[in-house]
Amino acid sequence: MAEDLLKIEGTRAEKYTSLYPQIQSLLAGETDKYANLANIAAAVHEVFGFFWVGFYLTKENQLVLGPFQGPVACTRIPFHKGVCGHAYTTKETVLVPDVEAFPGHIACASASKSEIVLPAIVKGEVVLVFDLDSDQLADFSEVDQQGLEKIIRLIEESWTSWA
Ligand code: SME
Repeated sequence: MAEDLLKIEGTRAEKYTSLYPQIQSLLAGETDKYANLANIAAAVHEVFGFFWVGFYLTKENQLVLGPFQGPVACTRIPFHKGVCGHAYTTKETVLVPDVEAFPGHIACASASKSEIVLPAIVKGEVVLVFDLDSDQLADFSEVDQQGLEKIIRLIEESWTSWA
């Protein structure tokens, strides 16, 4: 299974196109949300090699660290703090080309230079945010936004059937 992921090649847009059906297969037949989110984080991390790829779930009135790949990270983020909090409160994808220039950015790791955070919204509520960090400035673009938003739609559609 992991060996197939390694075969994904091409431009970044092509990689997202090849990755999507593989993520669909990874999720098929599994209803545990942590298992599925863990495999999504692992697949995206493996294919693109981003510095940090993971989820913060809405829980106990804050964002709490979920499955991820990369260095250890902050465990709890208030709804109004950081890039993740901004994605939570605005319910929109946040693209940050330079984290130093984003007021209130939470630096879990100094190597992180740019970031994209996407909220997953179910029945009008943000259930989680998908956070990706890169050690390169301005590493994320609309290509990533589109590719990752497709994965977010999959999570949103599946969410209520996951335990
Ligand atoms: N930088 C994020 C915090 C999470 S870590 O990047 C993994 C933020 O500002 O919300």
